[in-house]
Amino acid sequence: MAEYHTILVEQRGAVTLVTLNRPQALNALNTQVLDELIAAFAAFEADPGQRCAVVTGSGEKAFAAGADIKEMADKPMADFYLEDFFSRWTSDFTRKIRKPWIAAVNGFALGGGCELAMMADFILAADTAKFGQPEIKLGVAPGMGGSQRLTHAIGKSKAMEMVLTGRMMGAEEAERAGLVARVVPAADLLEDALKTAAQIAAMPPLAAMVNKELVNAAFELGLDQGILHERRLFQILAGTEDKAEGMRAFVEKREGQWKGR
Ligand code: CAA
Repeated sequence: MAEYHTILVEQRGAVTLVTLNRPQALNALNTQVLDELIAAFAAFEADPGQRCAVVTGSGEKAFAAGADIKEMADKPMADFYLEDFFSRWTSDFTRKIRKPWIAAVNGFALGGGCELAMMADFILAADTAKFGQPEIKLGVAPGMGGSQRLTHAIGKSKAMEMVLTGRMMGAEEAERAGLVARVVPAADLLEDALKTAAQIAAMPPLAAMVNKELVNAAFELGLDQGILHERRLFQILAGTEDKAEGMRAFVEKREGQWKGR
């Protein structure tokens, strides 16, 4: 496995656990963290033995408190533009990861931290989690998709209030608003996330990828196109060995054995 300095990567059976590991900076996302995350995700995606990933933050205080402000503070505008800063995050990264992954949010998920969590297929939150897009207080705006993904997740009024005031949203409110799938006691978060990931990893892998693709398509396609896309992918899955096995196993009242074909 590659050597990482700002993240920890472990394989727990078919589940890859990625831990953001700069607790002294509340796991702020500097370029090195982002590069290492991209590399770790590419390795996860390429490994046929790995079927679901969990991303979490080290320490109890933060998932990630945002992009690294100290790295950005003195950076001239021309460099942000010429480097197309954050571009690999807002486009390539999410689209290239076709396997499912979960954000397990402990503590602060602010700015780029909230945006990273929202790139996940779903968010499990500790009851101590706090979400926010406070970039306005720094004279900027969300830069890794937050203005778009937050609005898709919780609607215009709430998203607008969040980005214009920079206020934080607690875990219970985030669950009510539809930003997170479930809230669990902080002490149980990692165990719950790994258990949920293991449950997904035990599913027929092609079907897992297709189900993910279909839900994501709902954000890109109109209803008719989306339903057509769904029907076609259902029909493609109907040709897989795992579909034959899954339906046979149901009839024979036993667990399916998946080939990923
Ligand atoms: N970047 C760099 N360092 C950060 C950081 C960040 N985003 N967030 C926290 N840190 C560092 C602090 O500077 C501090 O380091 P030192 O001990 O060396 O001073 C350390 O982490 C601990 O932080 P605090 O002392 O501030 O901890 P606190 O408990 O008093 O406050 C907090 C916690 C409310 C989360 C506060 O740290 C905070 O407001 N952080 C910044 C949040 C933010 O504005 N995020 C958005 C960043 S911009 C962005 O993300 C752009 C984008 O859309 C991609």
